[in-house]
Order: sequence, then structure tokens, then C-alpha cells
Amino acid sequence: MRFDTLAVRGGYGEPSALANEGAICEPAYLSPAQHFASSEHMRQALSGEADGWIYTRIDNPTVRQLETTIAALEAYGGGFTATATVFSSGMAALFMAATALVADDPARPKPNIVLPAACYGGSFMLFRERFQQDRGIELRWIQDSLDLGEWERAIDGNTRFALCEVPCNPLLRMTDIPALARITSAHDVPLMVDATLSSPAVMRPLVLGADIVVHSVSKSMSASGLSIAGAVVSRPGICCPHPRQEMRADFAGFLKRGPQRDTGVILSPFNALQSLADLRSLRSRMQIMGRSAQRLAEVLAAHPAVAETYYPGLPGMPGHEIARRDMVLVDSEMEPGGQENCFGYLMSVRMRGGIPAARAFLDGLQIFWRANDLGRIKSTATIPSISTHSQLSEAEKKLGGIPGDLVRLSVGCEHEDDIIADAVQALDRVRKVAA
Ligand SMILES: Cc1ncc(COP(=O)(O)O)c(C=O)c1O
Repeated sequence: MRFDTLAVRGGYGEPSALANEGAICEPAYLSPAQHFASSEHMRQALSGEADGWIYTRIDNPTVRQLETTIAALEAYGGGFTATATVFSSGMAALFMAATALVADDPARPKPNIVLPAACYGGSFMLFRERFQQDRGIELRWIQDSLDLGEWERAIDGNTRFALCEVPCNPLLRMTDIPALARITSAHDVPLMVDATLSSPAVMRPLVLGADIVVHSVSKSMSASGLSIAGAVVSRPGICCPHPRQEMRADFAGFLKRGPQRDTGVILSPFNALQSLADLRSLRSRMQIMGRSAQRLAEVLAAHPAVAETYYPGLPGMPGHEIARRDMVLVDSEMEPGGQENCFGYLMSVRMRGGIPAARAFLDGLQIFWRANDLGRIKSTATIPSISTHSQLSEAEKKLGGIPGDLVRLSVGCEHEDDIIADAVQALDRVRKVAA
């Protein structure tokens, strides 16, 4: 089956429908628990001898449908079967994956994590506060995620995992995943990629060589904006010297059967259903948003009020060649127009007039919503230094490359002419105010 067919059908075929009164859509199983036919059935389900979902904190048929679909989309074209576990948010997914990988290991007493400083502010805070501050784990910040030498020098035998966002939020920097995977696998270190901004419709890091993918499913996968969710997806047999064989063999499944069950960081079946409904049209939405974003980025880059534009689809952007290689609309090579790049929906600009101009640009937008959100069917815009990255100190903002005059724009599914006209009228107003 092609990507779109997998996304639309998920794991829900005729046998599932016939077992559900013929319903052609996955039902929402809101029941907290499963009834067992007998005590023996109960024993078998609880011991794992028979399939069963038991209790919604442990598993749930609707949640499973979402997990099966995400896993199939992430492994598409890879020739392997991936596993996915969904969580209550993207941060919960990242936290649970990272926590499992830094678990005590007497053989490696001084754990470190290697990750670029240019990343989503929430992730920066998670690692600084919850891992470095609370647990004393060393963070080795990568300055330029495109510099493989920097990664090589930072990773050693005590590295529990390397993490990168591709592209990263809000600077849209790329990382060469296949090349980095060669470095991490040589050290038996798992490579985890936060692929929220690309989505499996554009890039599938497991197929490119990564071990684990993390998603904020809250974004393009749930573009209507009706739910917040997260996912951890893993390929079979991740690189990892951790002594627990079950964790190495099926990392996402291990998270579900142990850490998630014990902590209860689950996704409600109702939210799972809402994400599932949006996931069906992921590819066509990414195509629309990506095409409009490319046009908008080109217009912004040429506008006199804009000093710099960050978008992987712009030829001058560092990492553009890697983006051209890795960010391809899935299955587009089978269409009459041939293979189509899709560089995503997110971009950032720095304003010539500094912080006042950034504020005036944001305040002048009429179609873009001023909101800390992205990947939505509705266009949104924000100033990261006062929103997504506001908790970082000035020194950390410098480390992460977040200047005060940076404005982030997320392109939605409104008509591209309206989106561009809105951005241009707001930029023109900035110029008039400055004149
Ligand atoms: C790249 C990236 N990763 C993770 C997250 C966190 O996701 P959530 O808001 O679902 O917790 C975000 C949120 O914006 C993000 O942009």
C-alpha cells in the first residue's frame, strides 16, 4: 500500500470493521477496562500470553490504531517494521524516551547527552532543568548541527544518546541524519530525531538510519488543533549498549509495557481518535502547506524590511542541499510532475528594524494568528524570544541562536495568496512606521 492508503486505512481493515458493527471508521473505545471471558482469559491477557488491552492506562484499542498507523508511516519504504507508542504530549514522549536511555548503568557512571543548542525552547528547558539540574547529567551542546566533526568530538562511550531536531525549531537548521547515524552507530549510541517539523510525509529518519523518532503529534499530524499528543517510534534493534535486551529489541514497545504503564503518561482514546482523523490527510496537507511556505519564504527573503530568512527550501540556507536530498514529499516520484521537495511549513525571519520591527510585524498580521503553535491548518506567528524560548536566560538564548528580532511563521492551509498578502501588508506597515 502507498503512504496515503496506509494513512487512511491505518490498521483498521474489514475484520476490524466487522467486529465493530461494520463501522468503517475506528470507534472510540472510551471504556477504561476490558471484560474477560473467564479467569483463564484474564490470566493469559495479563501475562502477555494472549492479546488484550486490559486497562486504558496499559493499552486501548483506539490508541493502538493511532500507534499502528504512525509506526507504518514512519517505516514506509524502509523494509522493516517499526513500533510506536503515543503519549499525552510531545514533551512527554521526549521525556519518557530520554529517561529510559539515561537509566542507571554501573558500567557507564558519567552519562552525557549530545544535542544541538538550537532546538525547541521546551526541549532546551527539559534537558537543562530535568536532566542536567535535577539529575546531574552532562549536556554537550552542539553549536552547528551541520558540522559532523563537532558531533564526532562530543560523542564518547558515556553518551547515552544523541538528539537532533530536523529541521529545528525555530531556526530550521538541518542535520545530515545518515552521516550522523554512521557516527553514533560506530559508538553504539542511539540516534534520536525529533522529526516534528518534517513529519513522515516528508522525511522518515528511521529509514535514513536513526534509531528512534520523537514527534509532537500535536502539530501537522493533528493539524485541526483538536488534540495534543506525542509519539516515540523505534526501529527493531536500536544501537544501545543498555543491558536490557527487551529495551534494545523494541524500544517504543518497551516504553509502553514498562515506563508508560508505571507512570500513566498516556494519551486519551478520544484524543487518539482526533489525531487519527487528521493523520489520514497528512501528505496532502503537507504538500499544500509546503508549497505555500516555499512561496512565502521567497517573498519574505526579497522584502526590504527583512534582514534574513530561514527556510530549508531557500538555496542560500546552510543545509539546503541536505534538505533537497532528505525532504521529499513521499510518493511524489510516482506523480506526473516527478519528485517534489517539500521543505515544510515553518520559517523564521530577522527584521532589519530589530526588536521594534519584529513586534510591529507580528502586531500587523491579520490572517496569521499570534499564537505559540505551529503545523496547524491555521497560519500562526510568534516571536520565540518572548514566547517559546522566554524561559531561557539571555546567555542561553545566545547559545541557541534566538535573537529578539526573530519572528517565526507557520503556514497553514488558507489560500496562499491570502497568506502572502497578509505577511506583505504587515511588513509594508513596518516600513511605513520606520520611515
Ligand atoms: C520540535 C518540537 N518538539 C517537541 C515539541 C513539544 O510538543 P508538545 O507541545 O506536543 O508537548 C514542540 C512543540 O512546539 C516542538 O516544536
